Amino acid sequence: MTANNKQPRTNIFSAVSLGSLALANRIVMAPMTRSRAGAGAAPTQMMADYYAQRASAGLIISEGIAPSANGLGYSRTPGLYNDTQVDGWSRVTAAVHAAGGKIVAQLMHVGRVANKLNKPAGSETLGPSPVQARGEIYTEEAGMQPFDSPRELRADEIGAVIDEYRLATVNAFRAGFDGVELHCTSGYLPAQFLSTGTNQRTDAYGGSVQNRCRFPLEVLAAMASVGGHGRVGMRICPDNPFNDLADEDPLDTFEYFLGEAALLDLAYLHVIRMPSGSVDNIALGQRFFGDRLIVNDSYDFREANEFIANGSAAAVSFGRPYIANPDLVERFREGAALAKFDARTLYAGGEHGYSDYPFYTPGKVVTQ
Ligand SMILES: Cc1cc2nc3c(=O)[nH]c(=O)nc-3n(C[C@H](O)[C@H](O)[C@H](O)COP(=O)(O)O)c2cc1C
Repeated sequence: MTANNKQPRTNIFSAVSLGSLALANRIVMAPMTRSRAGAGAAPTQMMADYYAQRASAGLIISEGIAPSANGLGYSRTPGLYNDTQVDGWSRVTAAVHAAGGKIVAQLMHVGRVANKLNKPAGSETLGPSPVQARGEIYTEEAGMQPFDSPRELRADEIGAVIDEYRLATVNAFRAGFDGVELHCTSGYLPAQFLSTGTNQRTDAYGGSVQNRCRFPLEVLAAMASVGGHGRVGMRICPDNPFNDLADEDPLDTFEYFLGEAALLDLAYLHVIRMPSGSVDNIALGQRFFGDRLIVNDSYDFREANEFIANGSAAAVSFGRPYIANPDLVERFREGAALAKFDARTLYAGGEHGYSDYPFYTPGKVVTQ
């Protein structure tokens, strides 16, 4: 980029600090499950290669990682609850750091969004209430299968689930991650507690908005107790119906929830916009998290840069563009064409369509 007086001082390529995370630019790789974990839900060398290829992002947010065996629900997804998994993730973070990048671990407990065929022996499908999700989930053994009927967590078990997030955060830092992100949307366990459709409890974790927010707030506090609030982020998408989630009043729920979460002084709030929903998610995020916002969903370079230049967000995360463009930052800088990904290899296993997308060839400059 050349110096230009008309160039706004803050743009997508300028550095920014979010809590304790110092980003070299504001292009964030969004979390993406790619179903390439090895035996025992442990990361593989191929995953280290894939993430290192994308290390020019200001920050990489890992695919969803289960904090416990009960938190697994999809096929070949990774965990962060034993030493083999910590070893595997250590190789991933070392490769990203060697390439000059930063990476946080997205902690994702699926709760009821699971089928037992995707879960290790001895693990269970749990939820705040025994409400089965409508729909199906892919399994390697038997193709599409209904979601499990979850067992309701007993009141005396909830503390142990919260502690799984704390231990996974301990493991994340042992493995060299720069931070952790709570996955608090898409119908997974924290969102199941927040929402009236999935939370029918009558104890301290259900009923009133204060009670429904208790679980994710205690999880955030547990995660922050390990390495400080400045290394913890959270991802939300109010009124997201994914995985059969429904809440009677998402605005009411999230106004209270974000008001309390903002007191925790987290590194960032990662907001997925949802124009089809009843809430202006980005405006809500701005109200409570001001300049610590990462925004997502269907941004292109131009819109993302505008959002940053006019102060609407600190950073923008890109998901699908990162699949086939490992050097997305360089392509944005050069105005290069973006490659399209092959949907057939998204979850296919193996290097093809994962770590073999080519880098940009200088000289092939096009207008975006
Ligand atoms: C293949 C794939 C896997 C995804 N897995 C996750 C995930 O593990 N955790 C998560 O929070 N979001 C996940 N997402 C959602 C993305 O992070 C992102 O919100 C979405 O792709 C929209 O952003 P985009 O328009 O830049 O692609 C996934 C998306 C895709 C395409």
